[in-house]
Amino acid sequence: MYQLSVNLEDFLAKYWQKQPTIIKGGFVAFSDPISPEELAGLSMEEEIDSRFVSNANDQWQAEYGPFSEDKFTDLGASHWSLIVQAVNHWHAGAAELVKPFKTLPQWLFDDLMISYSVEGGGVGPHIDQYDVFIVQGSGKRHWRVGAKDVGQYKETKRHEALRQIESFDAIIDDVLEPGDILYIPPGFPHDGYALEPSMSYSVGFRSPKEQELISNFADYVLAHDYGNVHMHKPELSTQEHFGEITSGDRETLTQMLTSALENETTVKDFLGCMLSQSRHQLNIIEPDTKWTSEEVAEHLSQGGELYKVAGLRALVHEDEPTMVYINGEVFRLAESQVWLARALTNEDVLVDVEPNTHVVPLLTELLNKGYWYAE
Ligand code: SIN
Ligand code: CO
Repeated sequence: MYQLSVNLEDFLAKYWQKQPTIIKGGFVAFSDPISPEELAGLSMEEEIDSRFVSNANDQWQAEYGPFSEDKFTDLGASHWSLIVQAVNHWHAGAAELVKPFKTLPQWLFDDLMISYSVEGGGVGPHIDQYDVFIVQGSGKRHWRVGAKDVGQYKETKRHEALRQIESFDAIIDDVLEPGDILYIPPGFPHDGYALEPSMSYSVGFRSPKEQELISNFADYVLAHDYGNVHMHKPELSTQEHFGEITSGDRETLTQMLTSALENETTVKDFLGCMLSQSRHQLNIIEPDTKWTSEEVAEHLSQGGELYKVAGLRALVHEDEPTMVYINGEVFRLAESQVWLARALTNEDVLVDVEPNTHVVPLLTELLNKGYWYAE
């Protein structure tokens, strides 16, 4: 169980998307939930994104996983770093580190990235578009953070994949020790080097870009065949300046562009589906033999619990409490099942569920999709 030493609400008011800061002793008596060997093990898995970055003699190299066992046999004692994404999807102990932040909107949460670095190891100076809490595990790491980018930082060509920038002046320059947390809002350049073998846990949050919303909405409109109509204008007349797009026509065309957005149901469904998709692969295993509704009812009546797949996103709109969006799909619950929608979206485990006729078919479907699992 990890517990923050600061009040998250107060922290947000003061720092969130405003200022980077270090919370000394953000976790008291911190201990690593995962070992470097386990992390290396995860980086050998096909489904898990990982990177190996080395910088001996200022020669930057980056390689993407999955790695084979030999990768880790003859490594030097300094200047490299192994980084694994979305470890919360694959390692239950590591996933515990996300829980202290779980009262932030779930749809903003991205993943828990873990890096193991040896002395001098890091990814170099760069800028992220994430809000991140970097929790220092075992070892010490020297971090520098600069002022927010207002277009003054130049990219370097040191290594294509690393998107590094040239040097920057530090507004934070400090050594993190186990349990310290560095919070960095989007746009602030930063650079961290391990001073000794070191574990870093990055709890990242990411909001969609306006561009992404627009492009995803276009995909959604096409997939649902919305707006499959041309402009209709039976009252057409001739124009003296026939090269002109008249103001009236522009208005009509603009109206066509925005009409889908004026439909609240469409927008709700689009956002629910888009935001409930994880950007990282999930550990979803569909059961070999499908559950029958009788088996599910039996399991529930015996007090059996159901577990949500780690990192699965289940969301609900504040003003639509029985439409549940799970992993990009929508599930419509009966009006009387607001409590179930709450449980699906807020809890990692479903306990004490009464097997009624509303609950059983839905849970059977969710189990058969592998979104929830028993034992
Ligand atoms: C790392 O942990 O090595 C990278 C974290 C970051 O700077 O985003
Ligand atoms: Co970064």
